[in-house]
Amino acid sequence: MKGYRTGLGWDVHRLTAGRPLILGGVAVPSDFGLEGHSDADVLSHAITDALLGAAAMGDIGMHFPDTDPEWMGADSLKLLQHVCDMVSAAGFAIVNVDSTVILERPKLKDYRLPIRERLAATMRLFVDQVSVKFKTAEKVGPVGEGRSAEAQAIVLLVSTGSP
Ligand code: C5P
Ligand code: MG
Repeated sequence: MKGYRTGLGWDVHRLTAGRPLILGGVAVPSDFGLEGHSDADVLSHAITDALLGAAAMGDIGMHFPDTDPEWMGADSLKLLQHVCDMVSAAGFAIVNVDSTVILERPKLKDYRLPIRERLAATMRLFVDQVSVKFKTAEKVGPVGEGRSAEAQAIVLLVSTGSP
């Protein structure tokens, strides 16, 4: 079926001392990082779920169950790339990706371009198709208290007419 499809993704991970802070495949210098079964890349997970949502192909846990040793400690960009291949095989191309990371600290704006470049390369897109925004939670709630980080993503797919 010809047309456009949009999809929404969201993820949250706890923050803990001594873990790397990996966002969109980029390691951001920080005393604390995201906790999880994989590398806990909350941004890549939200984008992956947005892509799966747009193609109505389930969610990240369905394709990469955290009980599956194949994906244990997996590089989240590999999961993202795999889902891009699935979306492409289903006859869709990505028009654009927009996203927001909600994290109290550290400041992330200096890492915006490297993160966009890494995500674009992984998804085989131009950098101007990939937007990454940052927000604090104004010291309110678990994110604002520095206990967790969240990410939101939205994508637009267009049918390529094949298959
Ligand atoms: O949350 P707030 O509106 O105060 O964020 C202001 C700006 O600070 C954001 O637009 C973003 O550019 C930047 N920011 C950042 N790193 C964060 C949170 C916000 O660079 N962890
Ligand atoms: Mg996750």
